[in-house]
Amino acid sequence: MTIRDRYLSKFPTSHRQYERAKQVFPSGVTHDLRYMEPFPIYIDKQSGCTKWDVDGNELVDYWSGHGSMLLGHSHPCVVKAVQEQVAKSTHAGGCHDLEVEWGELVKKLVPCAERVRFTGSGTEATLMALRLCRMYTGNPKFLKFAGHFHGWHDAVSVASDPPYDSFDVPGVTAGMSANTVVIPPNDLDLLERTLKNDSQIGAVILEPTGGHWGAVPIRGPFLKALRELTAKYGQLLIFDEVITGFRVAPGGAQERYGIKPDLTTLAKILAGGLPGGALAGRADVLSAIEFRPGKPKMRHPGTYNANPLSAAAGVAALKLVATGEPGRLANEAGRQLRNRLNAVFAERNWPWFAYVDFSMFRLIPNYEGPRATQAADDNDGLIPYGGDLNELDGPPANPNFRHSFRQAVLLNGIDMPGLGGWLTAVHTSKDIERTVGAIASAIEMLKAEEIAG
Ligand SMILES: Cc1ncc(COP(=O)(O)O)c(C=O)c1O
Repeated sequence: MTIRDRYLSKFPTSHRQYERAKQVFPSGVTHDLRYMEPFPIYIDKQSGCTKWDVDGNELVDYWSGHGSMLLGHSHPCVVKAVQEQVAKSTHAGGCHDLEVEWGELVKKLVPCAERVRFTGSGTEATLMALRLCRMYTGNPKFLKFAGHFHGWHDAVSVASDPPYDSFDVPGVTAGMSANTVVIPPNDLDLLERTLKNDSQIGAVILEPTGGHWGAVPIRGPFLKALRELTAKYGQLLIFDEVITGFRVAPGGAQERYGIKPDLTTLAKILAGGLPGGALAGRADVLSAIEFRPGKPKMRHPGTYNANPLSAAAGVAALKLVATGEPGRLANEAGRQLRNRLNAVFAERNWPWFAYVDFSMFRLIPNYEGPRATQAADDNDGLIPYGGDLNELDGPPANPNFRHSFRQAVLLNGIDMPGLGGWLTAVHTSKDIERTVGAIASAIEMLKAEEIAG
């Protein structure tokens, strides 16, 4: 039986559900990443790092709630906090105690957080950050790096996915992207020239461990130089820590690398797996949201800002994050998984490579290049292809490969959003061994059908 035939027979209830979903949702899904051929699976329940689909198949999960479940699914402290809150109040229609506690935890953990404003999502947080920067500096433009994702609002949609040399994003007018300046990551000379020569750039935004959560890794020395250059040429620096915040370290990449940005955008782990985002940063920059007689104000409504359920989950989660233990365990699991996969790829002489830092991983098929010695720390693994953007995060050679790969790993008991994923504090050595075996067996299946990436 082919991979596809086996997939059809193992997930029949999901197949039926997808036929219904196609009559409701465009392409049958509610998030682009969830789209897969011939159909995605439907999830029934989850616990820790395990999930069960509607056909009763048990799977090790690497979606981890799109990166939001650092503690694992249904952590008892988060469940208890949300259960108690849901019976008390799900929308305060006003201020409430938990929002203050939640904000104080963000302030305590995130080094640059002098002030905090909760939003509905990470996308809203980056939208707010850029508008506040325009107000503060008076400059209309911002600089972003090719391959860095900051949500889906107009100005940041440019160059977040390949092809990176085009400003032509469907539905985004030239006017909307006119103030977005894009350069490739990790090129300090070009960065300095651009910041120096374009006095209309008021802000720089980036994913601090690299675009698409580290597809093209960025490490400390670049961040340090970036901080120095933005201070020298007068731009505000925004770390988009929607993924790295509370994951890489309790205070995010800024704590881990000891570099303080002016603003930070947060979401995901922030709200313990419930919806929510935040902008945190310098009090003088966030003061433009304040009611100050005679001074311009950025209006900021938002029905679900600091929603009590998200606040309850967020407080419970951040209290655990603050101990440092969940991040440490997840980072350790990430390193173990990457090292074990690379050992198996090398042993079998397969052209595959596993990389990315901290508690995240990505796989490269058709890899040609040096093999890493075992990484001993969370961020000292080899950066493949010298960090080349198009090699690491360019258009895939075979766009259909992702679908076949996902089918093959699902057949072996692993659910990954693509060629990579996020670990949690509860992925054990046993889960990792199971994963390594499953990925190896998925690769054998793909080889048998001569499906190449
Ligand atoms: C780095 C980064 N910024 C912003 C966002 C957008 O966040 P949200 O999906 O909550 O709008 C994401 C989402 O994955 C992200 O990874």
